[in-house]
Amino acid sequence: MPHDGNVTGEMLRRILAERQGSFVSGEEIAGRMGISRAAVWKRVRALREEGFAIQGARGTGYRLTETPDRLSEADLRARVRPGGPWAAFAVLGVTDSTNSRAMEMAENGAPHGTVVVADAQTGGRGRLGRRWISPPGKNLYVSLLLRPDVPPAGAPLLSLVAGVALADALEAMGVPGTLKWPNDLFLGDRKAAGILAEMASDPDRVRHAVIGVGINVNMEPEDFPPEISGRATSLRVRAGHAFPRAEVLARFLDSFADRYGEFLAGGFAALRDGWDRRDFLRGRRVLLRRGRVEGWGVAEGVDPEGALRFRPDGAASADTVHSGEILEFVR
Ligand code: BTN
Repeated sequence: MPHDGNVTGEMLRRILAERQGSFVSGEEIAGRMGISRAAVWKRVRALREEGFAIQGARGTGYRLTETPDRLSEADLRARVRPGGPWAAFAVLGVTDSTNSRAMEMAENGAPHGTVVVADAQTGGRGRLGRRWISPPGKNLYVSLLLRPDVPPAGAPLLSLVAGVALADALEAMGVPGTLKWPNDLFLGDRKAAGILAEMASDPDRVRHAVIGVGINVNMEPEDFPPEISGRATSLRVRAGHAFPRAEVLARFLDSFADRYGEFLAGGFAALRDGWDRRDFLRGRRVLLRRGRVEGWGVAEGVDPEGALRFRPDGAASADTVHSGEILEFVR
């Protein structure tokens, strides 16, 4: 029976994976697949082009030493805890920005709980109009489409919810981090993930919110462009080993589902402990920008409403800052 390339490629991948890194002879593979040894060689070449590392030694056969870290809908569905809010997964190859895709999908009626994830972004967006470095095969670029029943003023808190959820998930995977108000996750004193929340709302309610999360998963130090290399890191750099992206994403989605439920029931106050014990800024001198005004002072933690407590230099007491940016901090 003739086989098409995908089917034989998948069979070959399974035969090699079964042996967990040991050599399998070309003769055995050819016999099991019902194809010639020359055809086996062709399939090996095709798998290598897809990113599989396969060693071939004359007389010994082939062995699989590395599998590409792919994202697929079926794999994500299998890894995410059943019964959660995740209604649909859009797994994209290259896109401009998963946030833009998710906002578009929301306008076209996509349901609450749609997850948009891409292998790479050509126009990844960060806060303050910055770009988000988004090379293929290494990291997670994901946007969660939510239709929460909260007033517009409550929507920005969703990015704090996402921060706590991400920190919980990473901690459970052995990579404890800290949270820098309002939207960054740090490993040590470097940023490893950022969150960009966007929304469309009517005067009294949020129509939809998109929570975009960029996580540097398997970036190596040399993958970071020079302008951020002194400030950025990845899970891989911090932990000293690679992480399957689908696993990181699934653990984050499970954790977000829990934290989101707690937030809807009890507001940010319900998550405050999870924030407080990881507060990167508490007690640090920071340069804060509020609108057009910038000033140095001390960060004094986050209140039950998710606002930053900031005591400007020379002031006797702290202000409550609902929106702003930390431009610099003392390490
Ligand atoms: C920041 O720290 O400035 C926020 C970065 C947010 C990046 C993510 S990657 C997935 C989603 N799509 C985007 O274009 N941006 C967010």
